Amino acid sequence: MSSGSRRATRHQQEKDDEVPQWIPGLGSDKPKPRTLGTSFFGYVPDAFVEKTPYLPSERTADSAKKQAELEKSTGQRSESASEISEQDATLQRDMDASSDEGVVTEEVIVPRRVMSSAAEPWNTDALDGVREVACCLVNNALSSASSFVDAKDPSRCNRGHRISVMSAQNRLLIKGGRVVNDDMMQDADVYIEDGVIKQVGQNLHIPGGTKVVEAKGRLVMPGGIDTHTHMQLPFMGTFAVDDFYTGTRAALAGGTTMIMDFALPQRGESLVEAYHRWRAWADPKVCCDYALHVGVTWWSPKVAEEMQELTEDLGINSFKMFMAYKDTWQLGDADLLESFKRCKELGALAQVHAENGDAIKENSKKLLSMGITGPEGHEMSRPEEVEAEATNRACVLSNQVGCPLYVVHVMSKSAADVISAKRKQGYVVFGEPIAACLGTSGKHYWHQCWRHAAAHVMGPPLRPDPDTPRYLMDLLANGDLQATGTDNCTFTASQKALGKDDFTKIPNGVNGVEDRMSVIWEKGVVSGKMDPCRFVAVTSTNAAKIFNIYPKKGRIAVGSDADIVVWNPNATRIISAKTHHQAVDFNIFEGMEVHGIADYVICHGRVVVEEGELRVQSGMGKFVPTPAFCPHVYGRVQDRDRAHAPQKVERAPYDGPVAQLNSQSQGLVTEHITAVQQENFYTRGAQLNDKSPKRPSVKVNNPPGGKTSGSFW
Ligand code: URP
Ligand code: ZN
Ligand code: ZN
Repeated sequence: MSSGSRRATRHQQEKDDEVPQWIPGLGSDKPKPRTLGTSFFGYVPDAFVEKTPYLPSERTADSAKKQAELEKSTGQRSESASEISEQDATLQRDMDASSDEGVVTEEVIVPRRVMSSAAEPWNTDALDGVREVACCLVNNALSSASSFVDAKDPSRCNRGHRISVMSAQNRLLIKGGRVVNDDMMQDADVYIEDGVIKQVGQNLHIPGGTKVVEAKGRLVMPGGIDTHTHMQLPFMGTFAVDDFYTGTRAALAGGTTMIMDFALPQRGESLVEAYHRWRAWADPKVCCDYALHVGVTWWSPKVAEEMQELTEDLGINSFKMFMAYKDTWQLGDADLLESFKRCKELGALAQVHAENGDAIKENSKKLLSMGITGPEGHEMSRPEEVEAEATNRACVLSNQVGCPLYVVHVMSKSAADVISAKRKQGYVVFGEPIAACLGTSGKHYWHQCWRHAAAHVMGPPLRPDPDTPRYLMDLLANGDLQATGTDNCTFTASQKALGKDDFTKIPNGVNGVEDRMSVIWEKGVVSGKMDPCRFVAVTSTNAAKIFNIYPKKGRIAVGSDADIVVWNPNATRIISAKTHHQAVDFNIFEGMEVHGIADYVICHGRVVVEEGELRVQSGMGKFVPTPAFCPHVYGRVQDRDRAHAPQKVERAPYDGPVAQLNSQSQGLVTEHITAVQQENFYTRGAQLNDKSPKRPSVKVNNPPGGKTSGSFW
């Protein structure tokens, strides 16, 4: 949404007659879907090149390239380029380059027109120098919007003057706001240098040449961390339409400064190769920081080895196992156990997509044979108990091997109840509701319009019980659920239409990455269920803690990354696909009025949203490695293992008669054999006590010394 259209809805702000410039996502320019033939999850290496139209960001990059070529050949600057420079020139402000500490002045920033950057994606220092630089010719710059960095010599402006090394965006002061962390609020200024928070407090000593963001009446909070996205995921024969550029750009617009995406190998494919493929997709495109979870979509000793490489060398500390998507990504119980065991050995967090894939397959067949082919069949084939059963099974299995568990996209009351009950029993388990299930319900699957109904198809489905969003928000507010994602995995109407005659073929996924913060603010804080501190906890801090990047992320404190959202809690906006920044042509929160708007978003100390206006560049985000053995996850696991270690009962050996099994005719039992003779016995076959209603118990759940929670280690 442009600053104009946002401001128009603000209660307390002055009338703004700026014409909205943002172009709605609908219409002929809408990104076209990619198709990958008939493969359900198939990644076809050349599909990007040959078979499909551009993803939105590729279209932009391509048109930028063409524009640059055109400019080169004509020697003229394009109209759009001059528009950009004029807009940016309005940012120029007074500068006192020679001022001393304690004097707050703003530095002139002279933008350089850049069509695309050749900088390494993770090197934002290089980008800092490229995009906006302080020019020595302050006065000239003030009067001229046409000063740019010399293309051949970046140390000089296009007029040949040396550029000042001191760059305004390296220093930033957020002034007059209320800083909110998960555990406290304080009225304080925040001073940032080189992307890191250097001071928090009042009456700070601020060097000259510092850009100031006025935050009076605003909340200054850690930027959001979306724990669950699927940008440009190859899935169900097509690719998610929001890629790492449009998706992360939209994330920033909504106040999210970091996403966590999933590298998902095909069955049989190397996990490490999938990881590198995702990095190659993401690194040149991401506008905000990102981390990766990796899918364990099949099991073998090689997978176990690769999990080690990923955790020890490649910055991965979480693995997602699927209990659904039979015949593609689904793992059976034995493989689930193996993967949980391996996660535990490596100090990684096991994640599960908890739905019973066998039941879903069976139900789908039945529904289709009854002629139920529409989106309502999607929900009917995977009702709540299918999710709750798998959630319970995942909790039990992971607990048997003492592996911490994170249940992604908790969509139903009954699945959430399982998690909250297990937590009460001491299990190390975390639950992640997503924006979709907190903000809307599954009634849409019964909508008369097929396109509308299909747009809500995701797995596990949204629940028809209209009380579900309220219920999940309550659990999130009281601590039974911990972190929030979106499962952002978007498909356009024509992509969804791949399943127009069969709901099992509708690509699963919905939007959310842009609106998560606003939806949770509206349904959580405005509703009175949580205070701003809890909002920060569930949108940012808890994710940073669980994935072991705290306090670098998820906190406003000295030394933390300057990923910050300056939040206007009183402003309102109406969510719509017409104004959102995502590439997808539908928004599941369409028409919802929400309080809470990101007036400013700061990512690594760079102002990327200013008064609602986005200023991003592809590749400016960084990959954030997530280290193993997170203390917030594994901190109590060792002690818990020790406390629950099985105890042998010391007793005198049994010396009475022992039954002897007849090896010839199994089932026949000879009694009155002494214990001494026991060593010679053949041990298979029926036991003496098989028919007895009272068999000796091996249960250790309730021994005289006290109850365990069912796990040995
Ligand atoms: O519908 C969904 N959730 N699509 C993405 C894949 C997944 O299961 O997370
Ligand atoms: Zn999933
Ligand atoms: Zn997902």
